[in-house]
Parts: sequence; C-alpha cells; structure tokens
Amino acid sequence: MNKTSFFISIAVILSLTVINSCKDSEQNQTQNNRVLQFDYGKKIEDIISKMSIEEKVGQMTQINIDVISKGQIYKLAEPNELDEIKLDSAINYYYIGSVLNVGGHTYSRKQWAKIISKIQHKATTEGNNIPIIYGIDAIHGVNYTVGATLFPQQIGQAATWNPNLVNQAAAVTAYECRASGIPWNFSPVLDLGRQPLWSRFFETYGEDVYLAKTMTKAAINGYQGGEQSDNQKVAACMKHFLGYSMPLSGKDRTPAWIAETQLREYFLPTFQEAIANNALTVMINSGEINGVPVHANSNILTNLLRNELGFRGLAVTDWEDIIKLYKVHRVAKDMREAVKISVMAGIDMSMTPNDYSFNRALIDLVKQGEVPESRLNESCRRILYVKQQLGILDNPIPNFDIYNDFGSQKHKQIALNTAQESITLLKNDNQILPLSKNQKILVCGPAGNSLNILNGAWTHTWQGVDTVYNTKGVETIFESIQELSNEKITYSQGVNLNEVKNLQETLSKASHSDIIVACIGEVPCTEKPGDIEDLSISMAQKELVNELSKLGKPIVLIMVLNRPRIVSDIEPLVSGIVQCYLPGDFGGTALAQVLFGDVNPSGKLPFTYPRHTGSIVLYDHKYTEKLDKDFGENAFNPQWEFGFGLSYSKFDYSNLKIDKQSYSINDVIKCSVDVSNNSSVSGKEIVQVYISDLVASITPSVKRLRAFDKVLIQAGETKTVEFNIKVQELSFVANNSRWVVEPGKFLITIKDLSAYIEIH
Ligand code: BGC
Repeated sequence: MNKTSFFISIAVILSLTVINSCKDSEQNQTQNNRVLQFDYGKKIEDIISKMSIEEKVGQMTQINIDVISKGQIYKLAEPNELDEIKLDSAINYYYIGSVLNVGGHTYSRKQWAKIISKIQHKATTEGNNIPIIYGIDAIHGVNYTVGATLFPQQIGQAATWNPNLVNQAAAVTAYECRASGIPWNFSPVLDLGRQPLWSRFFETYGEDVYLAKTMTKAAINGYQGGEQSDNQKVAACMKHFLGYSMPLSGKDRTPAWIAETQLREYFLPTFQEAIANNALTVMINSGEINGVPVHANSNILTNLLRNELGFRGLAVTDWEDIIKLYKVHRVAKDMREAVKISVMAGIDMSMTPNDYSFNRALIDLVKQGEVPESRLNESCRRILYVKQQLGILDNPIPNFDIYNDFGSQKHKQIALNTAQESITLLKNDNQILPLSKNQKILVCGPAGNSLNILNGAWTHTWQGVDTVYNTKGVETIFESIQELSNEKITYSQGVNLNEVKNLQETLSKASHSDIIVACIGEVPCTEKPGDIEDLSISMAQKELVNELSKLGKPIVLIMVLNRPRIVSDIEPLVSGIVQCYLPGDFGGTALAQVLFGDVNPSGKLPFTYPRHTGSIVLYDHKYTEKLDKDFGENAFNPQWEFGFGLSYSKFDYSNLKIDKQSYSINDVIKCSVDVSNNSSVSGKEIVQVYISDLVASITPSVKRLRAFDKVLIQAGETKTVEFNIKVQELSFVANNSRWVVEPGKFLITIKDLSAYIEIH
C-alpha cells in the first residue's frame, strides 16, 4: 500500500515551526505579539491598570525564603526566622510576587503558620497590597513539613499502575500543603524516565507515554481538583517543560538532542494531558535542547506552550536559570541580555532566587523600550489569574485550624496502600516468598535499617540524607520485619553503600539464620549531586551478596534504588528479588507485609530494567535495536521488561476477543480477554494491551502500550477484562510533525495472546 497517499491527520497543529529556533529578539517579539489572548477578567485588569512598572516586575519575581530570613543565604540563623528589614525591602521596595522553599530543612506547621501569615500580612497591608504566592517542592507528600504523610516517590507511584492511588496521594499532598499555608506545589514531574543514568529518574512516572499520561491526569486532578481550587487544593506545576529528562550524557542539566518528532511523540503528551486538565503552572527545563537553552526558546515557551497547547497559567523559570543563560549557557553576554531573551521568549516569573538582579535589569529594559510594558501585563495577568484561582487574592492568610486530617491515620493508610501496590516482585524461585513468620531471618545491607534510603531525596532536606528530621514513629525495613515476625530478627549491616564494614560479623550471623534478606540501596540524591559515572550497583554491595551466597542459605534481595542499578552479577545468586523503588515512610511496613504474604504484590515495572550498563534499550524500541552481532534478533535482553512483575497468585490469560478485523479512523477497537486466577490467593493483576504498527513511514516501535487495567481477581475466579481503544490513539508523529494513523496492519497483544487488525 502506498502509505503517503493515505496520511490521515488527526490533530490540529496551529504552528509547525521547528522547535529549535534562534533567540533573535526581533523575531521573538513578533512571535510574542501573536500570543493567544485569553480574557482574565475585570478584577485582574483593574489590578494591573493600577500597577507601576516596578510593581509589575516585582510580581514576576520569585525569591528564596533565605533572602528574607535572618542569617546568610544558605546559612540561616537557627531556628529560621524572617528578618523584618529584608522582608520590608522585598515587599515595599521590590513588590515581590512569590517566595519559595524552606531554609534548608523541615518546618513544623506552627513555624509555617508564623512565616506565611507574616509575609501575607505584610504583602496585603503594605507594598502594593497583592498577596504573594508561596511555592514548595512537595514531591512525595509535603516533605518539608514535620509530621506530613510521605508517599512513595513518583516512580513507585507509577509502579502501582493504579491512577486512583496516585490521585488520592496528590489530594492528600494538596491538603497537607494547604495545612502548611502553601498553595503552590512544584509537582508533578512530567518528564519521561527514558535515561536511567539521570539523577531524577525516580521523580518520573517511568518510560512510557501512556502510563505517564494516565498518572499525570490523576495527579493534576488530585492536586487541583478541577477548575477552581479551594483551600484544600494547590496549583500543580508541570515540570520541567520540555525534554529535561533526556540528557545525552545522563548527567543532570547537560544537553539533550531530541528531534521534533520525538519531542512531540514522547516528551510533550504528559504536558498536553496536564494542560487539558487545567494545570495552572509550569516550570521550565534548566537544560538545552539541540543547542538552545529552553529558557531562551520562544518557539517552545510561546508558540508551543501558549499558542498551540493553549496554556493560560504561569510559567516560572527553574533555579537561577536566567542567570545561567549568561553564566553557564553563554547565549547572553550579561544579565540584562539574559533577562530580555527569557522574558521575550515567554517566561512569566523568575525563580531569581537569591538576589534582585532580574528586577533591576527588567525595569531598565522596559524603561529603555527594549521590552514592551504589554509584555509585563501578559505575565501579570497569568500570575494574578493563578492567585485568583487559588482563592488567595480574597483570602491571603490561611486559617490553619481547619486541617484536622493533617498527618492523620486516614492519610497514612493511603500512603501505605500506595507503597503496598508499588512493590514489585521480580524473582521468586521455588516460591521462596512469602516467608514464614516462624523463620529465623537475618536482615542486612545498607537499606535494611535506614528511613533515609527508603525515602530518597526531597525528604525533609533537599538531598534527603540528614537523619535529624526523620519522621518519628515510622519503621525501617528491619523494624517492620521484626514487628510482623514471631521470631527475634537480627540486623547486621555488613557493608554500607560504598564500603565493606562488618562483613565477617554479618556472615557469621547469616550462617545461623534460615533466610537472608539483603537490602541494597542508593544514597538519597537528586539533580547535580545525583550524577553518577556508572549504572552498576556498588562493589561493596555486590561483595555482600557474593559472600552471603557462599553460605548456601536462601537469599531474598531487596532493592531500594533511585534508578535501575545493574544487578546482573548478583541476580543468579539469590532466590527472590523485590523491587521497592523509593517507597517512603511506609515502605518498610509495606515490604514486610509483602515478604510475609499479608499483602500479595501487585506492582509492575514502569521502566525497562537493563541487564548491562551499556545496553539501554527501552520496551518500545525500534526493530534495529533487536539486531545482535551474530545477525540474529536477540539484542533486546533486559534484566526485566517494562510491565513485568510477579504475584503470589497464578494468572492465566485466554479468550482474546476483538470486535472487528477492520477499522476506520474514527472507530473504537473493543477487545476483551479472560484472566483466571488459578491459585488459592486473591490478587491484583495489571492487564496490559500493546499494539504494534507493522509498517509506518517513520520506523515503528516494536510495540506501544495503548491501554491497561488493574483488576482484583479472587482465588479461583475468572474475570473478563474489556478495553475500548480509539483508533486515533494508535497515531504517531510523522515527519511533518503531525500526528497520524497510517492505514495498514496492526498487531494487538495481551500477555501471550495476539490478533491482527487492519486500519483502512
Ligand atoms: C529543581 C526544581 C525545583 C526547584 C525549586 C530546582 O533546582 O530543578 O525541580 O522545583 O529547584 O526547589
């Protein structure tokens, strides 16, 4: 069939400009003149009409709390306290629009109440009387408030394949954020986890577009709860627009080289989904794509984000990123030029965050006629719109007394459920699991008795390594196993993350146990501090497992990792493997319940787990990636595949039914499959539908996930699971950057069953 004559365009693309464009300011200005205009309402226009240039620039400024606190930046006085003089200057001289972060560590709700009330009181009674919007990184729960409920990190949430849990986790986070007086959350991360070396892999929903899109919708609705947010909801922040997660080197904030077709097909859909669900704010990618820093790219920030996707909320820079345009990226000669480029490219608010150089430069640019005042008005509209949507224009000072569910048992239960459903059983030789509660167990390894490793970065401190602020009353893996076991459990660390410690003692204790639970981990880290040189698990941890294996005792390997670290050497030495991701404060309990069979594991990998450091091939690879050096097709050989995860139940699939054999573009494919639980244990199964486009004008992926459902199937029960998949969802981005479904043959696969269909 001649494909080219059958292209069916299914998306309206307003602009087909190539995403990497030059930073020529004239051109940017013309493009900005074409920004889609929304009506933000009279109240907002009235406020803007009374604002001076200085006030407008101030509204576009976000400062770090350190700038208005006692002490020095990054070295605040303890306990942290606002500094009257600095606050006065921020409000009455710079008219700041926003404050972010925390002075390096977690605050109590009482401390937050004091800080937020003081800032808002000052901002609304002095300065230009406009409330500020406070923003925080509540990445897996409100990790900077003492006693908040901490959830698994996003990668673990994705591993549940349960959007209801993701939605509930976001709703609890929103509530507890508001209970801390904070209405703006810099979450969720919508970057795809397709580069496992990247330090922020654990902050993503994994490698697949469809799974990540499903979780995006759940999270945005959980945070914002619809169009108008109330005092239990926060503004979500889509991060980090666009293409941040795919640095070629694997190192954070290093260049990405991504073709427009790939940007649109893989990296854009989660953001598109979030915007379709009214996401109020977006944070920009600190890095560069194809040689253009995104903070300087008007095609991405204006043409794509505003004009094409119709985003009407506010776009905030990432940390110091305007400064970095001249200091690091070198696309501007000084701060003045950097400010001009980024503002004209389309940013609304500058996370400056430690000085007022942005203000000085922008005021001057407007006064010299190099940035039109109308450009400031556009940004102020968007910023005030977000404040209005959150209700803080009318009620700036929160009532801290109405949040009785903060850190409640109800919230903790949701975090526990999420951790339980995330845990993924990867190996279970000879049904080593579940364990008996009457066995003598040795728990060892660095992750065995550490809350910090269970939680990862963004926990009480930025990097999450400080133990001082750990939540009281929650249990580590060792403590949780002890809690459920009838026997006295022994813990002996053996090695720490990078060096052998008391290995001989551990081996001797292991020799007296029935079973060894070896818990390997990774140091909590993110962003630049999380850069690694090698995907392998550390030598010390390998040595631990190697030495233990010589004892001839069964070993269960527990993995608590920020990203898939290579374990191919030690995998054959153990009988059971449980992947925990970074499960949060309730991860120890959830894991112990899984180990003893109180909970049947039901998580599945949201990414491909590589077998070798040099073989990073994802599940939706191209056919050429299958070719091996012996001219066979066996090169795709991961340790574990995307979507893989075992259960204590035995699920069998049969009876795949497809309603038709041939479909047209507007049809819906109805298919069903019977799943039987042929075991004596009830369990949840994630039924996954993959579809392969057999021939296409751009090399097709071997398969793509197009639908899934997580279903509870009782012991002995058979359930028919049905799917309705729009033919349009089989589209891909063709060479002209448009989404198309090309006619031809497709293969539908569910587990080991498959059927061909035809699109005409
Ligand atoms: C990170 C963002 C974060 C911001 C504010 C940046 O360094 O890249 O994800 O929201 O800091 O803390």
